[in-house]
Amino acid sequence: MAKLPIIVAPDPRLKLACKPVARVDAAVRRLMDDMLETMYAAPGIGLAAPQVGIARRVIVVDVARTGQEPRPLRMANPEIVWASDQEASYEEGCLSLPEHYADVVRPEEVRVRYLDHENEIREIAAKGTLATCIQHEMDHLEGVLFVDHISALKRGMILRKLTKSKKAKAAEASETVAAGSAR
Ligand code: NI
Repeated sequence: MAKLPIIVAPDPRLKLACKPVARVDAAVRRLMDDMLETMYAAPGIGLAAPQVGIARRVIVVDVARTGQEPRPLRMANPEIVWASDQEASYEEGCLSLPEHYADVVRPEEVRVRYLDHENEIREIAAKGTLATCIQHEMDHLEGVLFVDHISALKRGMILRKLTKSKKAKAAEASETVAAGSAR
């Protein structure tokens, strides 16, 4: 397994609609495992393939709490086959929008059909944090971020801050390179 670099917003690669996988073969399985390793290391509870630069419909999720047995879900081509009318609001974050959080309203329960790591069709009924997390990751496959669900004002504020800290980091990195070459 390998840890992959996570793309931070704003970035055009996070705005793409992703293509389905034809089948879950060894390459897709490996991507799923690499994504899980990347997610656990971050740490996070969900990750979508576009966040590591792969425009494919693959997500991984594990909402088990610290100290609990891990419950990794590897999903390809996930599809919501049923959503409750009842909605719930949860504070969401995202590894591609580090250190920013906002309340997002979504259906409280969903039923999701997907291909697992063995290319078997499966269905899962999810509610609470799991339902929120799966819907959040599935949004990524359409190029949608959690900030796209909140007010334009708040979204603009978050994206400006991220742009600023990206620029600061790039400047820091080039200073380090300059310092290194001056030696
Ligand atoms: Ni996310």
